[in-house]
Amino acid sequence: MKRKTICVVGLGYIGLPTAALLASFGYHVVGVDVSTHVVETINQGLIHIVEPDLDAYVRSAVTAGRLKAFTSPQAGEIYIICVPTPFHEEEGIPKPNVDFILAATRSIASYVKDGDMIILESTSPVGTTQKMADVLREVGVDISTIYIAYCPERVLPGKIMMELVENDRVVGGLTFEATQRVASFYRSFVRGQVLETDAKTAEMCKLAENSFRDVNIAFANELSIICANDGIDVWNLIKLANRHPRVNILQPGAGVGGHCIAVDPWFIVARDPENAQVIRVAREVNNSKTDWVINQIRIAASDAAKKIGHKAKIACLGLAFKPDIDDLRESPAVYIAQVLLSEGYDLVAVEPNIQEDNRFKLTSLEEALSSSDVLAILVKHRQFIEIEKNGKFVRDGVIDFCGLSA
Ligand SMILES: NC(=O)c1ccc[n+]([C@@H]2O[C@H](COP(=O)([O-])OP(=O)(O)OC[C@H]3O[C@@H](n4cnc5c(N)ncnc54)[C@H](O)[C@@H]3O)[C@@H](O)[C@H]2O)c1
Repeated sequence: MKRKTICVVGLGYIGLPTAALLASFGYHVVGVDVSTHVVETINQGLIHIVEPDLDAYVRSAVTAGRLKAFTSPQAGEIYIICVPTPFHEEEGIPKPNVDFILAATRSIASYVKDGDMIILESTSPVGTTQKMADVLREVGVDISTIYIAYCPERVLPGKIMMELVENDRVVGGLTFEATQRVASFYRSFVRGQVLETDAKTAEMCKLAENSFRDVNIAFANELSIICANDGIDVWNLIKLANRHPRVNILQPGAGVGGHCIAVDPWFIVARDPENAQVIRVAREVNNSKTDWVINQIRIAASDAAKKIGHKAKIACLGLAFKPDIDDLRESPAVYIAQVLLSEGYDLVAVEPNIQEDNRFKLTSLEEALSSSDVLAILVKHRQFIEIEKNGKFVRDGVIDFCGLSA
C-alpha cells in the first residue's frame, strides 16, 4: 500500500521529532520551516536542537530520502501544524498569540484538496481549530471535504522519541468523521491509546493538564515561603507529608519556566477571567516565587558584603528552566540573573548544559565555589547534586532554592 505524504509545518522541538518518527514508520515526509538555518541543517541529516536519539532518526530519514525540508509549503495528504503559540506581551492578563498558526494555515491553503487531513498539534486556546477552518473557508477551500482535527502533544523533552510512540493521545475533530480518520492515522504509529473526542475538548484537555501542574507547583512554592518564614525545612516537611497515603506535594523551586506550563494556563484565564481564579492565582504565585528568590539573594549579598567589607560576588547555579536540559526559554533562573545584573551586582553563572550565552559571564562550578561569596542554587542539575553529596556546599553563602538533597 502506498504510504501517504505528510507535510509537517514547523520543525522545532515537536515538529522535527514527529517528522523523523513518521519517516521511520515508512511515511514520505516533507517538512516546512520558515527558518533557512533549520531547513539547511535538516537536509544535511543534522539537527538544530538537543534531544536524545533524534540525530539518528533524522540522519536515517534524510539518507533514505523519506524526509526532506523546505522553506515553503509542499503538497501532501496529511498536514501537521507544530508552530509556536506564545502570548502577547502586554499589561494585565497575557493574551494567546495564534498568529503563527493562522499564518501556517494560510500557507498550506492552496495545496489542500478533497480528502486531506489537517491536524493542529500546537498547544492552543479553545476554538483555534475552528479558527483554522474559518481561515481556510475564507480563502476558498471547501472545508466540507477535508478532515480537520486537534491532537495535543504531551511529550517530555529528553524523552520525546520514546513518548511520541508510547504516550496516550487525544484526538478531537471538528466533525465525527474527522476525529475517526485522524485517530486512525495516529494509531498507525502510536502504541499508547488514541482517545477520541471533539476539538474543543481536546484543546482544553492540554491546557487543563498544564494548568493542573502549575497549580500544584504553586502550592509547593507557596508552602516553601511560609516554611522559610517559620524556620522549617520545606524539603523535609514535604517528605514527611507525602508519607500520608493520599498526599503528594510536588517540589518547590525558583519559579516555573519553559514555554508550556508557564504559558498555557494564561490561555484559560484569558478566555474566562471571571471563573479561572485558582489558575490565575497559581500563575501569580509561581511568578512571585521568583521575585522572592531574587530578594533572598539580595539579602544574602548584603549580609556577605557586611562580613567581607566589599561588594559580594554572586554565582547563580543553573540557568535552564529545569534540570539537565539546555533550554533557557522562559527560565526563572535566567530572569533572576538578569534582574540582579541590571541592579549592578557582580554576578557569574554556572550552566553545565550550554557553552555560551552573551547575556552572562559563564564560569565553571569549581571556579564559582572558590571565588563566590553567595552561591544561589537555582536548578537541580545532576552536577550540583554530586557536589552536594560530596559536602562542598556546606559553607557560608550557599542558598539552595531547589532542594538538592531532597
Ligand atoms: N517543546 C515541547 O516540549 C512541547 C510539548 C508539548 C507541546 N508543545 C507545543 O508545540 C508547539 C511547538 O512548540 P516547539 O517547542 O516545537 O516550538 P519551536 O519554537 O521549537 O518550533 C517551532 C518552529 O516553527 C517554525 N515556524 C514558525 N512559523 C512558521 C510557519 N508559518 N511556517 C513554518 N514554520 C514556522 C519556527 O521557525 C520553529 O522552527 C507549541 O504550541 C508548544 O506549546 C511543545
